[in-house]
Formats: sequence, C-alpha cells, structure tokens
Amino acid sequence: MTRTARATWAPGRVNLIGEHTDYSGGLVLPAAIELGVAVRIEGAAPSISLTSRQFGGAEPFAPDGGGAATDGWARYAQAVAVELAALGRPAVGLEGTVTSDLPPGVGLSSSAALEVAIALALCAVADFELEPLELALACQRAELRAVGVPCGILDQAGSVLGRQRAAILLDCGTLEHRLVPVPADAVLVVLESGVERRLEGSGYATRRAELEHALRLVGAERSTELELGDIDGLDPLSLRRLRHVVTENDRVLRFAAALEAGDLAAAGRLLSESHASLRDDYEVSTPELDELVRAAEDAGAYGARLVGGGFGGSVLALADPDTARLLGGLTVHASDGARLRTYAKT
Ligand code: GLA
Repeated sequence: MTRTARATWAPGRVNLIGEHTDYSGGLVLPAAIELGVAVRIEGAAPSISLTSRQFGGAEPFAPDGGGAATDGWARYAQAVAVELAALGRPAVGLEGTVTSDLPPGVGLSSSAALEVAIALALCAVADFELEPLELALACQRAELRAVGVPCGILDQAGSVLGRQRAAILLDCGTLEHRLVPVPADAVLVVLESGVERRLEGSGYATRRAELEHALRLVGAERSTELELGDIDGLDPLSLRRLRHVVTENDRVLRFAAALEAGDLAAAGRLLSESHASLRDDYEVSTPELDELVRAAEDAGAYGARLVGGGFGGSVLALADPDTARLLGGLTVHASDGARLRTYAKT
C-alpha cells in the first residue's frame, strides 16, 4: 500500500515596484519567486513541534499558540498559530520539518514565506480552509505579533497570489488584484548589498508613523486618494514622505503598462526613478544600495532600485539576458505562489 505524505511550500517575493506604499493602502507589483520555505508534515500531534536544520531547534508549543513565548525563528510559527486560532482553526498540533532555500536578510521576504508555509501546514492538519488573502492577512498580523514589525500586506500577498511569468498588481486598500505578464526577455536580477536588512530596529516603524501622520494632516485614509496638488504646503518631512507614495503609486501603474506593452526601457526608467524617490524623499536607502544601483545602470541594466524595506538588503535590476549575465547576482523568475502538496511516501 502506498502511503501519502504532505508538504507545504511558500515562496519569497520580489517586489517589482510599489515600495513603502502597502501600509497606506497604495499600489504594489510583487512577483512570487522560485525560492521559498517548505514544511514537511510528519503528522498531527498534541503540540506544534517543528525542527529545522538551517534555523535550529524550536521548543514545542500549544496548537493554539498559547503558553510560554518561544524565541528565535519559531516566534513566527507560534504567532501564526495564535492568529489562526482566533479565526477558528481547530486546536490540532503537528510535527513538521522546515527547510528553506531563501536567503534571509536580503529583502526577499523570508519571514513571510515561513509564516505562509506554516499557516498552510496548520490549516492542512486541521482540515481548516481560508481564502488565500485571508491567510495572508493572518500572517501579516502574525509578523506584528512575533517581532513587532507593523508591515503591510505586500510580502504575504505576493507569496500566496503568485503565478508563473506574472506579477501581481495589487491595490492594498481594496485588495483588488490582477496579473500582469512579465515578458520573457525581462530578466530580474537581485544584487545583494551585503548589509543585512532586518526590519526590527530599522527605521521601518518610524517611516510608517511619519506617513500615517502626514496622511492625517491631509485628511486621507489611503494614499491612492491623493494627487501631488493635495500635498502642497505641508511641512517638509510630511511632504517628502507623501510625495514618495503618491508618485510611487503612479509609477506602479505606468510600470504595469510598460510591461504590458513590452517596453522594458520605459519600465527600467521607472525603477530608477523609484530608487531616487526612495533615496531622497523616503530616505530608506544606504550608500551601498545607491552604489549598486549606479553600477547596475552603468553595466547597461534598463533600471534598478532597492527592493523591500530598504536600510540594507538588495537591489533589483531589470536587464536583458546578456546584461544580466554581466551583472552576476541572483536571477529570479516570477513563479507560482504557496501551495499544499500531497505525494507518495516511499
Ligand atoms: C517590507 C514590509 C512590506 C513593505 C515593504 C516596503 O518588506 O514587510 O510590508 O512595507 O517593506 O515596501
């Protein structure tokens, strides 16, 4: 008799454009990538007991995430269990093995991939179903619960909604989304700055607070309600923060249109404009990231920009295949999103 086993897998994401717009209900254009986190489900169990050779051991915790707080990477898993319990997931534990081929700290959302893979595994053992975006929202709340990072929905949504050869144009205010094909000759290259990015302790929470303050000043709930004319006369800091998100929302739409028209030169210019705005108006770049963007442009990339939260991490360059080879770095492909897989156990 063949026995079956189950595993979940959730990808990291590369955000093509739309950076620091998600938490003001703005526009983003992420793609799931082929690197991610897998959880092999060894079986249901009285507690949640996870092991990982890469991440180290984890103390088992209760199926509803209750009890003493774990530390290290398992904090994310425990927080996911708490959020799923709040949504009614039956208190079934599991024994699972976690593996990852997604480098942490480079801006490809390794924590979101871990949260989503764990969430899918916890749902699978308890025969509990959530819509993909409901699951993504639970994981976003788990990120805040686990490490206090008030992130938006970008990373988790990118992980669950991904499709091969397509990016996801997502309105983070309404959660409406549609796929935008990525042309076959558009190569996405991730260049690591060597400065590890951690959102905890970075300026991320400060930026979010500054932006929310600026939105209150102009009486807007979502950045998509605003045009440049609406932000005249603000104090210089609020003006810069809002100018970034208002112009970035517009760049997202123009970038999607450029991809649809196969105009990679126009798409590349928008990436470089996005970087300048993140550097000068949103102030989340570093000298290393600026230097990498310049180097990619000098080498002939269509354009480049810092990707993810900034303050370190990586640069994304859009290039033709020959230039991509010259750039080195990590070539990533728009891929299918998170999934549960059942396979024959040998
Ligand atoms: C991090 C956060 C996301 C988003 C980006 C910036 O990746 O987790 O929610 O805010 O930064 O675009």
